[in-house]
Amino acid sequence: MSSPPREQRPITLLKLAEKRALGEPIVMVTAYDHPSAAIVDDAGVDVVLVGDSAANNVLGYRDTVPITMDELLMLARAVRRGLKTPLMVGDLPFGTYEASDEQAIATAHRFVKEAGCDAVKLEGGGQMAQRARAIIEAGTPVMGHVGLTPQTATALGGYRAQGRTAERAKQVLEDALALQDAGCFAIVFEAIPNELTDLIMEHMEIPVIGIGAGPSTDGQVLVYHDLLGINDAFKPKFVKRYAELRQPMVDAVTAYAEDVRTRGFPGPEHAYGVAPEEMERLKEMLAAKRARA
Ligand code: KIV
Repeated sequence: MSSPPREQRPITLLKLAEKRALGEPIVMVTAYDHPSAAIVDDAGVDVVLVGDSAANNVLGYRDTVPITMDELLMLARAVRRGLKTPLMVGDLPFGTYEASDEQAIATAHRFVKEAGCDAVKLEGGGQMAQRARAIIEAGTPVMGHVGLTPQTATALGGYRAQGRTAERAKQVLEDALALQDAGCFAIVFEAIPNELTDLIMEHMEIPVIGIGAGPSTDGQVLVYHDLLGINDAFKPKFVKRYAELRQPMVDAVTAYAEDVRTRGFPGPEHAYGVAPEEMERLKEMLAAKRARA
């Protein structure tokens, strides 16, 4: 299958707003390293999130809470080097933005200055809408994130759909509106019932990107490892797998191991050559050295 036609010019915030206005769905995906960035760039996605989900997808943590800014910055720099067109968003890790506006601004600036991110994302409404406002006023565009916010999943009762009672649904609506009022250029809705998404969408004037929030959002986001089936340990209901790459990867490494153990690899086609007269000269040089010794 060949790559889809490429949008050659870099995706801007204005372009995302235009897509929303035209009803053109926005495609967002995570990436955490250079090869995955180059692949999603070739696939022509609109937005790439260097998500804190790198914690469990590439760094082996149990959840997103432990990942540090330094760990995420290193990954973000690798992603930057692999991207040409998509808008790149850095995900503020837990504990790097909640304490004060000053802390939030400083962390956002690190993503922009040290990794070349175009924007940052933060989780939650309430006080976090104020953090978003402060970051935006200090010059960095912000994407919000409401519904299931994995960094505070424990407080939300675990990794489960949000907004399933009238009170909780009202809270999700209020969070989304607060982030919109704060000046966010887009918002992620994660794991909320379709009916609630439909209702909130009536109030939204900025692009909404859904993950487990139904079809009525302006775009969708999936985690790279989930959509490719690289990480098959856990599959949330909202994930659609477009490939099952883990087993073919295991099979390929197993075949390599078998080849090495049976001396089936390397073969003649993997070998470098050298002119016979050069080998002859080497042998003469070594013989002469031995004779002198
Ligand atoms: O870190 C992440 O992967 C995310 C997406 C689920 C939006 O925040």
